Amino acid sequence: MDAIRIPSASTNNFKSQSGPNSPARLCARPMASAVPTEQIDGSGARNHRLTGDSFIRLHLRKLSAYQPILPFEVLSTRLGRKPEDIIKLDANENPYGPPPEVAEALRALKFPYVYPDPESRRLRAALAVDSGLESEYILAGCGADELIDLIMRSVLDPGDKIVDCPPTFTMYEFDAAVNGVLVIKVPRLSNFTLDVPRIVEVIEQERPKCIFLTSPNNPDGSIINDEDLLKILNQPILVVLDEAYIEFSGMTSRMDWVKNHENLIVLRTFSKRAGLAGLRVGYGAFPLSIIEYLWRAKQPYNVSVAAEVSACAALQNPGYLESVKNSLVQERERLYNLLKEVPYLKPYQSYSNFILCEVKSGKDPKKLKEDLAQMGVMIRHYNKKELRGYVRISVGKPEHTDTLMKCLELL
Ligand SMILES: Cc1ncc(COP(=O)(O)O)c(C=O)c1O
Repeated sequence: MDAIRIPSASTNNFKSQSGPNSPARLCARPMASAVPTEQIDGSGARNHRLTGDSFIRLHLRKLSAYQPILPFEVLSTRLGRKPEDIIKLDANENPYGPPPEVAEALRALKFPYVYPDPESRRLRAALAVDSGLESEYILAGCGADELIDLIMRSVLDPGDKIVDCPPTFTMYEFDAAVNGVLVIKVPRLSNFTLDVPRIVEVIEQERPKCIFLTSPNNPDGSIINDEDLLKILNQPILVVLDEAYIEFSGMTSRMDWVKNHENLIVLRTFSKRAGLAGLRVGYGAFPLSIIEYLWRAKQPYNVSVAAEVSACAALQNPGYLESVKNSLVQERERLYNLLKEVPYLKPYQSYSNFILCEVKSGKDPKKLKEDLAQMGVMIRHYNKKELRGYVRISVGKPEHTDTLMKCLELL
């Protein structure tokens, strides 16, 4: 808008100048020319019957919507089952939910009518204790998802390039499309590890600005070792390391690496570790030279009062978080061993709370997912080409595994 000069009302009387060259029209012109579908018909006259979509940015008109999971209530109606009777193993949620302190804290909310703290001070202080990294390096968001978008909006201009290493979390590609950013894909190797030499080559050739790495990776659960990460960090590129599932890996978070690497951002979330996916709280560790700008660019009230209170309450019970994590890790190993016995599945070892399986022996993965859904067990199946032939199963409680195995036996 700064570039468009609006004549001041004192020197121009808009009301009295309504002709074709009135100030109002002159002002509007640069904006109108930015609306590409205003059409000029055969006679050269402007067709002012604009449709709503003509106002939408051109690249967004080609955007395919992100495919989220169905809400529990919708699923329940579709399957004709009560939500309690559906076993949800399709979105890597934590079936144990948050510790009891969260419900107590939500019940005790005193000021829900007051806007939240734009700096999430209480939460960042609690996260500093939890992570060992000072709160000045930490910024919280409405899920890690919001932070991925915030990073893109702050770092990338339309037309800039990022590197994505599929199969991986599809939000990177989706947010890139929303932000008009080009995606250079460096597919993972057949065992789902990163193709580091190719990544280095692509950085040299294409000069992308940013790379998104996920450890453990969704959907296969593989991790990135220090050597590979350091090789990529030594390149002239901003590395966003997504540690949404780090708690299940037995590895230490690399959050404190941001102190020594100006080109590293580490993202984490309460969705998985604390069973708070529905309340939307994520956080990230950033170099001080970067975080300053994200503070300026973020939505002021991005973490709701309920979200901050819940996350703080969850951190008050580290014993619960630890025991839930241990249960899920133990169950992952049991599930893996059981899936290995299913003749038409090949499960992959995972460091996370889900297991990727190749569907073999001519079985159709989509039908497998649909048949299980009919029996009340939801798993994830993929349309994307890199994952055609695979399904992903989240780790649930032992009784969820038992039901899943009974259903798989029937198919
Ligand atoms: C790798 C990865 N990162 C981030 C997220 C999103 O986390 P949040 O729920 O905090 O937005 C997910 C969710 O499934 C994920 O798989």
